[in-house]
Amino acid sequence: MSEPKLKAPRGTFDVLGEQAAARTALEARARAILEGAGYERIETPAFEATELFQRGVGESTDIVRKEMFTFEDAAGRSLTLRPEGTAPVCRAYVEHGMHKRRQPVKLWYLSSFFRHERAQAGRYRQFWQVGAEALGSEDPAVDAESITLLATLLREMDVRDVRLRVSSLGGAEARSEYRERLQEHLRANEASLSDDVRSRIDVNPLRAFDSDHPGTVRVMEDAPRLLEHLSEEDAEHFAEVRALLDAANVPYEVDSTLVRGLDYYTRTVFEFTSDALGAQSGVGGGGRYDRLVEQLGGPATPGMGWAAGIERILLAGEVPEVGQPTSYAPLELFLALERTDGETRRRAFVLLQEARSAGLKAQMDLGGRSLKGQLGHASALGARYVAILGSDGATFRDMQGGGQEQIATDAVVHAVLRGLHDL
Ligand code: HAM
Repeated sequence: MSEPKLKAPRGTFDVLGEQAAARTALEARARAILEGAGYERIETPAFEATELFQRGVGESTDIVRKEMFTFEDAAGRSLTLRPEGTAPVCRAYVEHGMHKRRQPVKLWYLSSFFRHERAQAGRYRQFWQVGAEALGSEDPAVDAESITLLATLLREMDVRDVRLRVSSLGGAEARSEYRERLQEHLRANEASLSDDVRSRIDVNPLRAFDSDHPGTVRVMEDAPRLLEHLSEEDAEHFAEVRALLDAANVPYEVDSTLVRGLDYYTRTVFEFTSDALGAQSGVGGGGRYDRLVEQLGGPATPGMGWAAGIERILLAGEVPEVGQPTSYAPLELFLALERTDGETRRRAFVLLQEARSAGLKAQMDLGGRSLKGQLGHASALGARYVAILGSDGATFRDMQGGGQEQIATDAVVHAVLRGLHDL
């Protein structure tokens, strides 16, 4: 008598054949884009202390309430298969004293994650994410760069019908004031809400925006919106992120109902969806988490990042040809800012996108440093050329040859290309 056949558990799958090749190609693309922008690879363990996610992701979230694979080890310690990557990366940042490095510290990962969800097309219990986290700077250019990098990856993977929605959740103070206002609104309309939303008015009222229960949707239509109650500073930060996205020609919609399923977000939040995906339309998303590192016992450190589902990118995109060249050439251009006003930063940001489109490995200052600090940073990164953007044009410096000249901002990319080819 033959033994019964065993199958992969529900919601999991084997990766083989064409699927494996597609993943290899996607990984190569992600790596070229992210390492080209100064992100370093990080991999954290597949399981962590359960407390990390309870504290990091939040007790009131669906993830912590019902989706974690949690088990005890032989010594009775509670461990959990990682449901997401941001809390582990922040844990590693603190554990390795990365706040002592030059900020922001930019890290990327491509790993598997585990959530006990109802399995269906595009939703699995073990899935892969590519993610990018920048820790240590609250510069709005970090937000815009981070979002732009995911937009680039989705474009290069030919993901169809992509839409980007952005919003801002503000800081802790505006959030808690708003929370009370929203709770009042929900309580006043309690009878029309779904059981789930009603039971979470106290713990997580914001999630009511995610509900597709008809009564709840109606109540939420005239709910107060957080975006209209931001502090001046948070509103300015968000305006600057939008201005940078505009400058980089990244199309987006502002959606004041956008809330994300994790508690750590502050200020910018965003989500890319693809209409080609059907019900599970979220391809990737993220935002700022300026308090998370501190909540995990580290020094106060702002953070910004995203993660995108590998399976969903492949479902909604085209597989690139395997064997695309990926280059790990050292940094070719560093853009320093003579002054850190919005205008100069926007010019630098646009120039950064132009340089990257021209195939250059380019970075700009994201750390709000003095000019001297920026030049030190550029040489620590091994930049071949530095362009210092002033009020009028740029000082273009050859870090190897030592020469420098005054040129128009428009001429910077060309000057780098010419310089590299003359070598
Ligand atoms: P998230 O929105 O929970 O964010 O997940 C990011 C992406 O992972 C989703 O857009 C989706 O493509 C994919 N994904 C999530 N759950 C599943 C599943 N069950 N099956 C297949 N794909 C899935 C986070 O995880 C945050 N850590 C993102 C972040 C990074 N925020 C800041 N930094």
